[in-house]
Amino acid sequence: MKEFLETVNFIKSKVKDIPKIAIVLGSGLGSLSDDATDKIVIPYKDIPGFPISTVPGHKGELIFGKLENVPVILMNGRFHYYEGYDLKTTTYPIRIFKLLGVETLILTNAAGGINLNFKKGDLMIITDQLSFFAESVLRGPNLDEFGERFIDMSNTYDKVLTEKLKPIMERITGKVNTGVYAYMKGPTYETPAEIRALRILGADAVGMSTVPEAVVSHHCGIKTVGITCITNMAAGVENEVLSHEDVKLTALKCEQNFKQVIKEFIKEL
Ligand code: HPA
Repeated sequence: MKEFLETVNFIKSKVKDIPKIAIVLGSGLGSLSDDATDKIVIPYKDIPGFPISTVPGHKGELIFGKLENVPVILMNGRFHYYEGYDLKTTTYPIRIFKLLGVETLILTNAAGGINLNFKKGDLMIITDQLSFFAESVLRGPNLDEFGERFIDMSNTYDKVLTEKLKPIMERITGKVNTGVYAYMKGPTYETPAEIRALRILGADAVGMSTVPEAVVSHHCGIKTVGITCITNMAAGVENEVLSHEDVKLTALKCEQNFKQVIKEFIKEL
């Protein structure tokens, strides 16, 4: 707890009014932070206790500012298990958000499309997740200050907020995709066999982030929503070789819709 408080006190010494909404920006989706006004930008490397993002396309800055006049915290660059961090470290910022008083968390990511009705460039609202291939981020002694040992997972992605998001998505993109996000540890993209298995299990999209953050956020009682950009069809669906460059390029193409959806959504929170 001491380390958490050191981080929180450092941030509070830099930022007077802490926003109630935090947004984690996924691969290639970081430019939302360019649209923020009244910004205070803190590089992760300056924040005591904070990990450092090592993925190309993840900048590594915490931004306090306003989007459409709504105060927000933007996390430009997240932490992944495949970078070598343990899961507790990857989700450290989420617990910091809780201690700062954040009430709503918007998790965004780039992912591969498993549902054959999806197209590259679509957005998907995450309604649930699959992660039983990976250890739980809550393994180990429970942090009682944040939440209980055993938690119900049927409202991991807040149903009320998700319903609010749907008409906004429809208005802006012309359709509403919802679905189950499957978490794979990476850093390899999946094999075609893994994708076929995930489809049978009920997954609509697959990625290497978000799930640990959603579990920690839900554990400590932050209302969570998830928005995925389908940057590619998953392995074996099309005759395409997957690459991080293409993932980032497609994310850039989704960006206008993505930014618009977030801006309209936070106005309604
Ligand atoms: N698999 C896993 N993670 C991803 C993918 C994918 O196909 N696309 C973007 N992130």
